[in-house]
Amino acid sequence: MTLTQAEQSPFRIPADSPDWWRQAVVYQIYPRSFADANGDGIGDLAGIISRIDYLKELGVDAVWLSPFYPSELADGGYDVADYRNVDPRIGTLDEFDEMSTKLHEAGIRLIVDIVPNHSSDQHPWFKEALASEKGSPARDRYIFRDGLGEHGEIPPADWKGSFGGAAWTRVPDGQWYLHSFAIEQPDWNWSNPEIHADFLKTLRFWADRGVDGFRIDVANSLAKDLPEVLPSAAELAAMPIDGTHPTIDRDEVQDIYAEWREVFNEYDPPRTAVAEAWLDDPARRARYARPESLGQAFNFDLLTADFDAAQFRRVVSTNLEQQELSGSSSTWVLSNHDVTRHATRYGLAPLNGRKVKQGAEWMLAGAPADQLDRDLGVRRARAATLFVLALPGSAYLYQGEELGLHEVTEIGDDQRQDPAFFHGGRQDYDGLGRDGCRVPIPWTSEGPSFGFGAAGAHLPQPAWFAADSVAAEEADPDSTLSMYRKALAVRADLVTGDGQAAESLEWDDALSQGDVLAFRRPGGWLCLTNFGAEAVALPTGELLVASGHLAADEDGQQLLPGATTAWLRQD
Ligand code: GLC
Ligand code: CA
Repeated sequence: MTLTQAEQSPFRIPADSPDWWRQAVVYQIYPRSFADANGDGIGDLAGIISRIDYLKELGVDAVWLSPFYPSELADGGYDVADYRNVDPRIGTLDEFDEMSTKLHEAGIRLIVDIVPNHSSDQHPWFKEALASEKGSPARDRYIFRDGLGEHGEIPPADWKGSFGGAAWTRVPDGQWYLHSFAIEQPDWNWSNPEIHADFLKTLRFWADRGVDGFRIDVANSLAKDLPEVLPSAAELAAMPIDGTHPTIDRDEVQDIYAEWREVFNEYDPPRTAVAEAWLDDPARRARYARPESLGQAFNFDLLTADFDAAQFRRVVSTNLEQQELSGSSSTWVLSNHDVTRHATRYGLAPLNGRKVKQGAEWMLAGAPADQLDRDLGVRRARAATLFVLALPGSAYLYQGEELGLHEVTEIGDDQRQDPAFFHGGRQDYDGLGRDGCRVPIPWTSEGPSFGFGAAGAHLPQPAWFAADSVAAEEADPDSTLSMYRKALAVRADLVTGDGQAAESLEWDDALSQGDVLAFRRPGGWLCLTNFGAEAVALPTGELLVASGHLAADEDGQQLLPGATTAWLRQD
């Protein structure tokens, strides 16, 4: 018997399918904290290569690598000094190619992070800008302004950076430059054609190396229109975000992505992209997800929702409506490298609609760590994960969540790395910064850095990591890791990924009562989540996977306990 090309392909969704991403499970690797092959305390590409079997067994369709480019690490690598290279502390381009080849052989696609809003202050073009005169072409690649006041000693505006602290910093000759994030992250000037050309070069550089897709950092802020007299921070904050705001989600940003789309479509299958755009209005976010734009956009709504049936249902419904508008598939995110891990969020007091600020209070969701109910948090996290994995669209997982890891709070002030912690985050808010979800993950229950590497880890690992290690959880059929593996295997059978027809969901309103949400997917798949505390009756059907143990009443009726999800197949 000869195999067809699709049968030979290592990919779950055929290699040549342009739609592979629509319902993919994407696993985010934070490279410096994943696996350290050479024992210098920093995760590296060789470490990722050594763990490809683990990723394959987990059953993910793609990995997304947070930045691994040369960087001074003022913002965990989101300060890029060279967009077309690998940080020598992390590896080489040859190792990148080896990783890419081996991932593909394992049937795993590769997404890299592009950081186009700002560079590092160590980027050669920023150094050149500083060494050049006011008004020079080198300065025009960034956003420089004269100051106010008699000697230009007052910043052009009182804007704050996202991590706290001023957004305008003065350089020796007296001019000021804009940095929407840390001082070390000068914003690019996207009115300059040279910047457009350079990013097209970067996209082609990685696409030519076999990268399948891109995650676009701060996708909504590239286009800026700054008037001669700048608005104050208060005025800026009061301006509507409707396409005309000076710095956020301007309509012209879509022209940039139209150019990028042409590049993506030069490849077969076309390269994909997903926008990181923290926009409140889902309709504005949907613009980035259109096929002529980036093609997909993160939906972060679950990051600020409580473990609550009504809130989850609202988020799902809104996002499925946007899917209709954009023509893209929805995305689901419970954790990433910027937010408190979901096991911890769900073990804290509910937010009840209170908005969690990005860049600050979002750390421990505003509640003191000693109020954390660790077990409840993990139970709920597992239930939420199974809920999300049953939804139509792509699921983005963050390394360590498959172990049910909690946020690490045991990090001394002197060990912290996150600029959000230093630049006022701690003082202005109650935040601890984002280091707690970036601690190197535990592979073994003993040994140096719990198997992360031969030496220590670059952020301290707590003693409780031992029980949550890959080795410990692999040995336990009830562990969170075992649940993820099983769920992803079942999902792979049920989600065939063959286009939009399979991306439907139907709420079961008879079962969705009170704290329970139930929905059906094609193939007789029923997902039922109990967001409450009291057990409810479980309908009959073949149990595919559950996030916790089921119970039964005296009459033998199967029950779905509180904070639990079950997947059933009903024919
Ligand atoms: C994005 C990244 C975050 C980074 C910021 C600035 O929000 O996810 O980690 O600090 O952009 O690049
Ligand atoms: Ca290393």
